[in-house]
Amino acid sequence: DMTGKCPFGGDRVGGAFGTPPTLENWYPDRLRVELLHQNGLAADPLGPDFDYAAEFAKLDFAALKRDIKQFLTTPVAWWPADYDNYGPQMIRMAWHAAGTYRIADGRGGAGTAMQRFAPISSWWDNGNTDKSRRLLQPIKHKYGSALSWGDLMILTGNCALEIMGFPTYGFGGGRLDAWEADNATYWGPEIWDPKDVASFDSMVTRDKRWRGKNGDADYDLENPLAASHQALIYVNPEGPYANGDPLGSARDIRITFTRMAMNDEETVALIAGGHAFGKSHGMVSAAEVGPPPEIAPMEAMGLGWNNPKGPGFAQYTMTNGIEGSWTPNPTQWDNSYLENLFKFEWQQTKSPAGALQWTPTDPNAPKTPDAHVKGQMNDLMMMTSDIALKLDPEYRKVCEKFLADFDAFTQAFSKAWYKLTHRDMGPKFRYLGPEVKIEDDLLWQDPLPERDYELVGDAEIATLKQAIMATGLSVSDLAFTAISAATTYRDSDKRGGANGARLALAPQKDWAVNRRAAPVVEKLRGVMADFNGKQAAGKQISLADLIVLGGCVAVEIAARAAGVPASVPFTPGRVDTTQALTDIEMFTWLKPIVDGFRNYIDDDFKQISQGTAPEEFFLDKANLMKLTAPEWTVLTGGLRVLNVNHDGSDHGVFTDQVGVLTNAFFVNLTDTDLVWEKTDETAMHFVLKDRATDTPKFRATRNDLVFGSNSQLRAIADVYAGSDGQHRFVKDFIAAWDKVMMLDRYDVKGHKRYA
Ligand code: HEM
Repeated sequence: DMTGKCPFGGDRVGGAFGTPPTLENWYPDRLRVELLHQNGLAADPLGPDFDYAAEFAKLDFAALKRDIKQFLTTPVAWWPADYDNYGPQMIRMAWHAAGTYRIADGRGGAGTAMQRFAPISSWWDNGNTDKSRRLLQPIKHKYGSALSWGDLMILTGNCALEIMGFPTYGFGGGRLDAWEADNATYWGPEIWDPKDVASFDSMVTRDKRWRGKNGDADYDLENPLAASHQALIYVNPEGPYANGDPLGSARDIRITFTRMAMNDEETVALIAGGHAFGKSHGMVSAAEVGPPPEIAPMEAMGLGWNNPKGPGFAQYTMTNGIEGSWTPNPTQWDNSYLENLFKFEWQQTKSPAGALQWTPTDPNAPKTPDAHVKGQMNDLMMMTSDIALKLDPEYRKVCEKFLADFDAFTQAFSKAWYKLTHRDMGPKFRYLGPEVKIEDDLLWQDPLPERDYELVGDAEIATLKQAIMATGLSVSDLAFTAISAATTYRDSDKRGGANGARLALAPQKDWAVNRRAAPVVEKLRGVMADFNGKQAAGKQISLADLIVLGGCVAVEIAARAAGVPASVPFTPGRVDTTQALTDIEMFTWLKPIVDGFRNYIDDDFKQISQGTAPEEFFLDKANLMKLTAPEWTVLTGGLRVLNVNHDGSDHGVFTDQVGVLTNAFFVNLTDTDLVWEKTDETAMHFVLKDRATDTPKFRATRNDLVFGSNSQLRAIADVYAGSDGQHRFVKDFIAAWDKVMMLDRYDVKGHKRYA
């Protein structure tokens, strides 16, 4: 109707920015390339030059800790502290910040303070951590951007432990906060509310994250997940699907804690250590509690779970639903959690909120003081997940050891807490502040030895380049080896990368995808021995540096061959680590299932991928390497003409001048005179034919063609295929190459987010 109504007036309902249906609704299976640009500079109020290390160094760390400790025992009226001590609730906040970490893809963890954003902020298990963070706001405001939320949360956890008599192992600052919700991490499907399903059995079968049933021999959790339910940090405290089965709970605990890279001893130390403090809250039924922070009403100002009973806090608090404390003295580090767990028999009972929990059968068991009502004494409480530690034979052994030796328990918890809270921070270069245990090499930190020789300068680098060229190694082999070393890096937990030369150590040296690197590494070792043997002035080169330098040499030769002389940046300073400093099991998690850069698909792919396409794994890798869509595209296109395919095959090598850095990949990818055909119904391989003559010209994989089939990637491919594309291609390829080689160089990059 064209009657002249104002276009934004009465006719228009809905339709504000971002209103569904969006692309996700229309095309749920599309490759979401735009996710590479999440949490970028555009979202960051601190700007590109903000140097967190420099700001953090200006803090009076001792005064900061005094402020936090003072705060912990100074309750406020809007959320009074249990036992007049915020310590326990802050420990839980810190543990939940760190506890989302999973070793499979390194995502989660405390490192970017993701607890502030959905979905994590609003998970049921994070109930009332919104209050913990809001209580900390005055400290955050006082110290401003010199103290990130990530660091503040973990440091507060440490301060809480310390004021309650627990000796912490150390603290490293350096966590850089994220500035927007993470819309990409796979947290798995969720069947949580029993109301949604007809029966326990259908709940189990519909919960796709689990394979088999708890107790089956092949019972397992989908990778990369590390929680039994999405909205939980680990497991349901009431047992699997709240069934109250301690042994079933133990199985879930073992799977989920292993996924977080914790062994049995660390697991018991963490749970028994954590539950020495504080209490659980379950005075009101879950059904009465309001919506979580992400969907709470405007006037709640970011706080969720509004509780209608009494003032909604103190003795009326409802968090998880279980009610009570584990020990008679919940604000003191002691061994009474394990003592009481083992001294008494426990029977099932229900909390006021209706949750399943356990209480001592012995009426003479010690009582615990109410957290708010002076003079009131309550029964001790255990959760099904606590009873699990007593009934599982292996956990029981650890408990008995800790029961007999409180010092060993204290030390084990102290070290496990340090690991838990620092696991995703990467190399020790990233740890800031006076409480870093610099002298210790903890295996989970993937230690690198200290360099005890002088670095090479320009003259030596020129000599080394000549020596590398004299080996006769091909451009392809040199580039392959450098890329193989560097692309293990993942920004999620800052592990992997070329530093350390772990490419030459188990397990990496034995991966099929790296086979081509072995002879190259041998020749580079020769160059190293030769060079280092001749140096009188104490200068040395590491194998790690040589592997990268070899790649730089290759790219320079390839650019020159394409008529675009360019120099490739090289920053020496990498060191070689040792097999003893390499945790083989933990590095095996870095083994690629798909490596699009080297056109590799693992033999186990079909079994593991469960319908996820190779290009989705490739996108995941690009994200873990912090690449933008243009960087990802130009890097792949360049690597194809260098031919770094793991098996040397010609897939995606759309050139007859291998080793010459031309834009041929993009020119042929976008050529309308060529047509693509899949070689069989799996559509994993393709052949490219001349449209006019039907003669086959090239072969390709999905990880080649995605750059021409996906609209966002094709828009970029067009840029490099254009008549003015060649120069831009070489320049951008070298920049992306250097970025990848430098991904793990925190020793030179410091704490600038965009360095
Ligand atoms: C509290 C479950 C491991 C530290 C709680 C609560 C639950 C729970 C349900 C009560 C929340 C509330 O209603 O306020 C579990 C489960 C675990 C586990 C199922 C693993 C199997 C840990 C670990 C730590 C920890 C590893 C720390 C190292 C705490 C603390 C509290 C607590 C300090 C008390 C919070 C307060 O007083 O407000 N836990 N927990 N828990 N948890 Fe855990």
